[in-house]
Amino acid sequence: MLPYGRQSITEADVAAVVEALRGDWLTTGPLVPAFEAELARWTGGVPCVSVTSGTAALHVAYAAAEVRPGDEVIVAPMTFVATAATAAVLGARVVFADVEPDTAILSPDAARAVLTPRTKAIAAVDYAGHPADYDALRELGVLVIADAAHSIGATYKGEPVGSLADLTTFSFFPTKTVTTAEGGAVAARDPELYDRAARFRNHGLVRDPARQRDPEHGGWHQEVHDFGLNYRLPDVLCALGLSQLRRLADFRARRAELVARYDRLLADLPGLAVPARRDYVEPSWHLYPVRIFGGRRREVYDRMRAAGIGVQVNYIPAYWHPVFADLGYRRGMCPNAEAFYAEQLSLPLFPDLSSADQDRVVETLHEILG
Ligand SMILES: Cc1ncc(COP(=O)(O)O)c(C=O)c1O
Repeated sequence: MLPYGRQSITEADVAAVVEALRGDWLTTGPLVPAFEAELARWTGGVPCVSVTSGTAALHVAYAAAEVRPGDEVIVAPMTFVATAATAAVLGARVVFADVEPDTAILSPDAARAVLTPRTKAIAAVDYAGHPADYDALRELGVLVIADAAHSIGATYKGEPVGSLADLTTFSFFPTKTVTTAEGGAVAARDPELYDRAARFRNHGLVRDPARQRDPEHGGWHQEVHDFGLNYRLPDVLCALGLSQLRRLADFRARRAELVARYDRLLADLPGLAVPARRDYVEPSWHLYPVRIFGGRRREVYDRMRAAGIGVQVNYIPAYWHPVFADLGYRRGMCPNAEAFYAEQLSLPLFPDLSSADQDRVVETLHEILG
């Protein structure tokens, strides 16, 4: 089956991991800050805390934002459930605000409509690799979190993802543009948010005697002032991440090339719309999400899969998951997200997708819809 997404691993990646395996550290060692520093070159210098997954990154970001029971967090529903779940496990009430009908990205107007004095943060999702409208979101006057699991390397009005929101989270899952197998990171513009994120990743430990309440114990002493977890990304995976980041520009370029080719080859196909895009962004395409009209998405999904083409659907609106339904969230809440979901289909997109395989995807779609 041709997958919808797939990692691109070279001998250089393998060599980097092997070298780390032969080193002294395996877990937290010199490659962790090296990876974080390299990542910060893509965030416009905004410092990054590496963690064990994109989900961990969201959990860390909400914890750094001091999201607590009684707080509300506004979340875009067209996302993987983790964007909402990580706020919910901290005890916050997740408030879903609808997306733009064409890009499936959080509508700043919809977010404004559900703001209350209890709103602690807004989490936008750079769906498919297309940045949200961060200028408009920042105007709402609450802390903004960018779930940039899809959009590493993208720019918005010339500014890089990672520099646009108070906190930005990345995922390095294998289908994503850059992979560490499992992994993620949080970029934090404010030093205090950065410190809280770094502490939460490592049990909340305070090692600097100048910050300890009781520094007289001795050199071994460390203290916990706020609870945290172990979300440390090990050296071995940072080695892979460093090696992958060296090819991020190439990954982006190849993905953009494939997207332009899909756009061209699918432009005249009736019953299908290619992805929408605002002219003030330079996306970093993770997904190629088309829309299938006429109630035929299920049929197209089944027939593409039967033809060995691993199309995917991203995503059911997050509040349709039974866990939210059981909490009283009702269908109909975000009609744009629901309409988008009903028509959405992700076509294969990854750097090593050959033109011949892409042609097969396009021809099969023409056979079904043409
Ligand atoms: C938008 C979005 N947010 C968060 C995540 C969670 O990332 P991870 O799988 O690395 O935990 C994903 C990945 O599936 C995602 O697509």
